[in-house]
Amino acid sequence: MQVAFYGHVRQYNNIKAEIDANIQEVILSGNYVMGPMLKKFEGELAAYHGTKYAVGVGNGTDAIWLSLMALGIGPGDEVITNANTFFATAEAIWIAGATAVLVDCAPDTKCLCPIATAAAITPKTKAIIPVHLYGQCADMVAFRKLADKHKLRLIEDNAQAIGAAGPSFRIGQLSDVATTSFIIQKNLGTFGDAGALVTNNEAVDKEVRRLRNHGSTARNVHSYGFNSRLDDIHAGILSAKLKHIDQWNDQRRQWAERYTAGLKDCRVIDLPTALPGYRHVFHLYVVETKKPELRDQLVSFLVKAGIDAKTHYSIAIHKQAGYPWGKDARTVGSLANAEANAACCVSLPMFPELTAAEVDFVIAKVQEWDAMNAPVHGSGKPGVARGGCCKGGSCK
Ligand SMILES: Cc1ncc(COP(=O)(O)O)c(C=O)c1O
Repeated sequence: MQVAFYGHVRQYNNIKAEIDANIQEVILSGNYVMGPMLKKFEGELAAYHGTKYAVGVGNGTDAIWLSLMALGIGPGDEVITNANTFFATAEAIWIAGATAVLVDCAPDTKCLCPIATAAAITPKTKAIIPVHLYGQCADMVAFRKLADKHKLRLIEDNAQAIGAAGPSFRIGQLSDVATTSFIIQKNLGTFGDAGALVTNNEAVDKEVRRLRNHGSTARNVHSYGFNSRLDDIHAGILSAKLKHIDQWNDQRRQWAERYTAGLKDCRVIDLPTALPGYRHVFHLYVVETKKPELRDQLVSFLVKAGIDAKTHYSIAIHKQAGYPWGKDARTVGSLANAEANAACCVSLPMFPELTAAEVDFVIAKVQEWDAMNAPVHGSGKPGVARGGCCKGGSCK
């Protein structure tokens, strides 16, 4: 059996008529950029989040730096975020001209640690960007308190968690802005690049609308700006898909439950932590090998068995080329949790259109690898990626 990592074509085939109808509607409308389909999708996205505004942009990276710029954050300012995230979070801070300050995550959820974040705040700090990593929300209540105390802006990087929620909060409710990516592999993805932000802040909505369209507020009226628009064809695809996102996320959660039940007795890996009360939408199902030297062994064992396993993200941000990228990016405190996560992470196939037989095949192969390695490496104790402590967040 072959098990793919993504199911884009299966998903398209399941709702082909709805997607094709929207694409046709756009083509026949004669409006392809900043047209009625984009307006409709922005309305639907704002309604989905319960925010006043949603603005479509070119991609998830642009959504972050356009938000920073709209909030007046740039050169000379510091922005705190995860040392363990997709590179784009730090890159967006760099594009905005600000200094990325990278801090540790909690050892269980891998989301940004509020205590480590508090320790990194200086008079230059202007914003915090918690990433809802792998599909689970960061502790937004703690970050809201921190932002209020130090008068900081809060931007949720929600590229991986559309449809997730915390026990007492929704995404977009406790922050200035929540940004997202619609690149194809995301829980809500189009056939190419796109992104958006949602906000309740009218000034941010207005400014990003201006910045994304050559600084224009009316035809032929321009100031400085960029070209970062969400095309109407992509908006149409996303509008069709948005109607299914909750059901798709439910299906991801069911596959995650099945993985967790099937792998709970493994002795050489730790399983992902879904916090009680949180709606984790499992953009990724990431296990961690107990020891770093086992990560690549597990990936290659699965790949040889026909299972497309990957790593997210095997190099921490501060270990990437060119760091500190001419903008004095820096780290604060121990990054032991983030580094151990990078060293031990293995992502198993996760998409709604998986079949039970495929999930069970993955479980069987991981169990087989685990049984082979347990006599030498097995332990009931947490592995190195669970060994640290942030003394806060979810590991209080
Ligand atoms: C956490 C995170 N932030 C930002 C991005 C950037 O999004 P995009 O690739 O659409 O620019 C991504 C995904 O690609 C991501 O996973």
